[in-house]
Amino acid sequence: MSAAAPLAPPVGLLAELTHRCPLRCPYCSNPVELDRRAQELPTESWQRVFAQAGALGVLQVHLSGGEPLARPDLPVLVEACATAGLYSNLITSGLGLSQARLELLLVAGLDHVQLSLQDSEPSSAERIAGATGVFARKLAAARLVTEAGLPLTVNVVLHRANIARAGELVDLAVALGARRVEIAHTQYYGWALKNRAALQPDQAQVRQALADVAAAKARHAGKIVVDQVVPDYHARYPKACMGGWARRSLNVTPSGLALPCHAAQTIPNLEFWSVEQHSLAEIWQRAPAFLAFRGTDWMQEPCRSCARREQDFGGCRCQAMAILGDPSATDPVCTLSPFRHRIDQALADDQGEEGYRYREMPRAAETVG
Ligand code: SF4
Ligand code: FES
Repeated sequence: MSAAAPLAPPVGLLAELTHRCPLRCPYCSNPVELDRRAQELPTESWQRVFAQAGALGVLQVHLSGGEPLARPDLPVLVEACATAGLYSNLITSGLGLSQARLELLLVAGLDHVQLSLQDSEPSSAERIAGATGVFARKLAAARLVTEAGLPLTVNVVLHRANIARAGELVDLAVALGARRVEIAHTQYYGWALKNRAALQPDQAQVRQALADVAAAKARHAGKIVVDQVVPDYHARYPKACMGGWARRSLNVTPSGLALPCHAAQTIPNLEFWSVEQHSLAEIWQRAPAFLAFRGTDWMQEPCRSCARREQDFGGCRCQAMAILGDPSATDPVCTLSPFRHRIDQALADDQGEEGYRYREMPRAAETVG
């Protein structure tokens, strides 16, 4: 898509309802500065945003966080999605999902649940989550969802502590009745970037995990859809982050800022508009942060003349910022980037550290669990 092509509406909206969360995962992609409860958008603002999203042509809303179940008004928000004709996907840790709560969400019109698992081995799962007594509660939440007849996707973020059990995690998702399992490797933004040296697997571990997941996929053929992506530090070319900047989806933060991607606030000097001051349509069409890297006109070489520029859109702007300090540079994971050696050096340097810097939680009174 060039900058002059007609602008298609976004397909997806990630609604970050809150940054509050009972877990402290060290790979969390939330910003290091979390929005506080007092800054969160009120119910009526989210209702307006969902109505605007439906009118704009958005198809799916991902109700996310933090932990979206921390919001008591979640059923009202799900109902607002249904009224606007939006497919609603609840992205949750499962903590706080009781039978009674699920029934309210079902009546409100919830379409799908995506549940995160940290590991298939309980003590490791709880060490990664930075919380005790949560593994069994997550499995119980998964069972509530499938018994209610709602489609369930299990989401796993792989890193050094759980990568050896990638195949077992697919087995566990099948046992829980999930229809889909997404095996994602850690993306290094937010807290994950702080913990990169303790999270980064080595090349042999990545290769083994790809083989283990492929074997699990064959073992469970016809029972579950398995999505897994080669981690970009270990790939030849970058992923099309967000499907291209401001091209397919947008995020709204708990306090109402509209972002082209969840890490966009790490890029200095971008101007973000709030859903309290602008409609989603205005934001999608004209917000300066959305125009900054939309299309291909902003690209430098080697992306500018590369045959893949409309496939991966130069990779991830936030990764170019984090590694090179230049958000318009070619994503340095690309083997055509003159700075690919920085990634290879990071892979060599990142081995050996074990301790996590856990995500810092808002005050205890602001959490659920
Ligand atoms: Fe993608 Fe740019 Fe690398 Fe080409 S040079 S493959 S467009 S990141
Ligand atoms: Fe921001 Fe990739 S996370 S562009």
